[in-house]
This record gives sequence, C-alpha cells and structure tokens, in this order.
Amino acid sequence: MQMDPDKVRKLQQMGLGSVWQRRGLNADESGSVSATAALAGDASPHAAADAASVMGMDWATLEENIRGCDRCGLCQGRAHAVPGVGDRKARWLFVGEGPGRQEDAQGEPFVGPAGMLLDNMLRALGLARGTNTYIANIVKCRPVGADGRDRPPTADEVAACMPYLVRQIDLIRPDVIVALGKTAAVSLLGLPADTSLASLREKIHHHAGLPLIVTYHPAYLLRQPADKAKSWRDLCLAMSLLNGR
Ligand code: URA
Repeated sequence: MQMDPDKVRKLQQMGLGSVWQRRGLNADESGSVSATAALAGDASPHAAADAASVMGMDWATLEENIRGCDRCGLCQGRAHAVPGVGDRKARWLFVGEGPGRQEDAQGEPFVGPAGMLLDNMLRALGLARGTNTYIANIVKCRPVGADGRDRPPTADEVAACMPYLVRQIDLIRPDVIVALGKTAAVSLLGLPADTSLASLREKIHHHAGLPLIVTYHPAYLLRQPADKAKSWRDLCLAMSLLNGR
C-alpha cells in the first residue's frame, strides 16, 4: 500500500513512530520504526489509517470519536470515555495515565483523591482546573484488571489511544506539557517502559517540539507525601519555562 508522503511526514512529526515501535511493527536494522514502513506494512494498516484520520479532526469530532471509540478492549468495560477537560487554549497541559473508577463514572479526568491533590498543585501554581490548563490522559478509558482494580494500560492500549492525545496536543499547542508519572512520560517521549521516572525528572524534554517536564503522579504522591517537595521543584521548572516566554 502506498501512503501519502504528507501524511507520513505529519505522523513522523507527531512522534507516532515510537507508538508503532511499541507494537513491534516494521523495525528497520537500527531497531527504529519509520512511520512510512508502519503505514505501508501489513501488520496494522487499519490502525495507521485511523491514526491519520484523527489528525484532521476538530474538537467536536475528536471528542465524539473518543466517546464512541472501540480501537481497543478498554471500551468494553467503560461507563464513560474520558476525553479530557479544560481550556482548549491553555498554556499548561497536564497528562495523567488513564481514568480510574470515579473518572469512568463521571467522564472527567482526575476527579478522585489524586484529582484533589492535582487541583491543589494547580492552585499552588496560581492555576485552576479549566483556567489556562487542560487535563488529559494517555488512555481515555479506564484500564481495569481481572481483580476489578485500576491497572496501568498495556502497550497496545496506549498505542491505540495515542493518536487522540497527539491530536489534542496539536489543537491546544500548550507552552508546556507536564507528564504526571511514568506512563505519561514514557508514552509521550517514546521511551522504553522500564525507564525510571527519576532519570526523567529535572530535565526539559520535548514532545512535538513543545517543552515537556516530568513529575510524579499525584496518586504516587498521596502514598509518598515526602516526595511532594520534589514535585514542587518540577512544577517550578515548568513555570520557569512559561515565564521565559
Ligand atoms: N489517574 C490518572 O492518571 N488519571 C485520571 O484521570 C485519574 C487518576
């Protein structure tokens, strides 16, 4: 199948090569995956075509597609998909892992205990939910284990959902992205899943040309409150990037 080179270029700019890499598609000799190869390959032409179509969506179409999505098995257990919430012209984008039980019930990200802490973190920055901030997740439907508890999304679930977040980022074009926890960080940066969060903190990364800071997930901070001070340092680093603009 021949792919439109413009689409391929845009997908590459959006960092989708790494998403397909995690799906084990079309690795070249260096071990990396070109979007061209992934798009042209037999392994997942439907996924590639879907990803390309998401790129052109406006907000209304995007949210409608997320709410009706069946690209992975997470749709089967959901009460609500959780597209994201906030100011679509925000300078700050916060990205978590995926909805939990309460988020699934309400259709809004970070409304449980971790969300209360996130709201406090926003307040400390002089921000508020919906004001100059947008909050989203790597996956839009709740990953739930056989035991009924929240679990991290699998690589395939992340890969299936990532085009939605990539499009949200493209529409918002925030001045800074804050990755909350390891799943958000490694997914947005296209890094191996076993990369340590510690190795990613206190650095300025980039996603799609936008600065990205990594900090702890609020749920982790609820368990390890002693690390809140480190998280505050991360948020101050993010703030310093905005002040420089
Ligand atoms: N944890 C997340 O990563 N996202 C949510 O929306 C809620 C909890």
